[in-house]
Amino acid sequence: MMKKVLVTGGAGFIGLNLVNAYLKDGYEVVIVDNLSTGKIENIPTGVTFYEEDIRSQNFIEIVKKEKPDLINHHAAQIDVQYSIHQPVEDGSINILGTLNILEAARALKDEMDISLIYASSAAVYGDPVYLGIDEQHPIQPISYYGASKYAPESYMQIYHDLYGISYSIFRYANVYGIGQDPKGEGGVVSILVDKIVTDSLFTIHGDGEQTRDFIFVDDIVSANLLASKHPINTVCNISTHTKTSLLDLLQIAEEIIERKIETVYQEDRPGDIKHSYLLNEKANQLLNWKPQYSLKEGLAKTIQYYKEK
Ligand SMILES: NC(=O)c1ccc[n+]([C@@H]2O[C@H](COP(=O)([O-])OP(=O)(O)OC[C@H]3O[C@@H](n4cnc5c(N)ncnc54)[C@H](O)[C@@H]3O)[C@@H](O)[C@H]2O)c1
Repeated sequence: MMKKVLVTGGAGFIGLNLVNAYLKDGYEVVIVDNLSTGKIENIPTGVTFYEEDIRSQNFIEIVKKEKPDLINHHAAQIDVQYSIHQPVEDGSINILGTLNILEAARALKDEMDISLIYASSAAVYGDPVYLGIDEQHPIQPISYYGASKYAPESYMQIYHDLYGISYSIFRYANVYGIGQDPKGEGGVVSILVDKIVTDSLFTIHGDGEQTRDFIFVDDIVSANLLASKHPINTVCNISTHTKTSLLDLLQIAEEIIERKIETVYQEDRPGDIKHSYLLNEKANQLLNWKPQYSLKEGLAKTIQYYKEK
């Protein structure tokens, strides 16, 4: 029988890539998104769309009516700076919003099996005390966003223990790819791609030696498809296990476009983590998942898409 998935945040960057992959894989897809950062044009035909807040009572009614086999929860407030200034709203969306989703799953679980996927973040680790970061690394978020992404992990584990609701929690490294908005908290890759396509100056904060673990969104999607079939009932990193400095990233981009990118240097941003990369052995063991894209391949696909657009 055709499986039904409800994707929260399906009008956002990662969500839109997930939705397209689920459709391709034969799933029936329902999206719930309040379009706070998501875009209506990201929603393809052939899905059922509810413009609704995940915190609303109506959300629970939607779940009861649609009876999805799986809720893939990607809706969130993702702006770290916003979380610092508006911790209550950040916590409300990320913590209470996820709790409402868990309550909706609980409302259904006597009727049918329902499982969950939750997109968490490397932000839960805070400043690394060692590299590469594995899942045993201390949880010491340095922003409210990191804290509000972590709290739902605990709730989800308890809902599993109390009610037997299956789940998979993924802590993503820095995701990039098609559909990412360079204007929001898009991340450095989407900003770089935007500067390339619009032929404008790219700003480097600090010395450019800071490193990140950049993962292409298609690799995020493949991990989600695997966990959709086999929930892992635990948490794992989804990352490339590779550290890339900003200067390396620039060089790779220059190789792809075969020209120099104009840059300007500015001072370090306070609160920025200097180095980060995450191990991914646990995801490999539990899901038989591995990232398939090198940074050069993922970046080339992303640049090409925006050039043609
Ligand atoms: N992009 C990354 O690098 C990254 C890294 C780690 C974790 N994540 C997580 O992945 C998920 C998706 O991130 P993204 O980069 O696609 O962000 P995004 O902002 O593009 O997508 C989030 C979506 O959620 C929707 N949304 C926000 N609040 C909502 C609410 N209260 N009710 C209903 N819908 C709401 C937005 O409209 C948007 O469509 C988030 O949970 C984020 O924390 C992303």
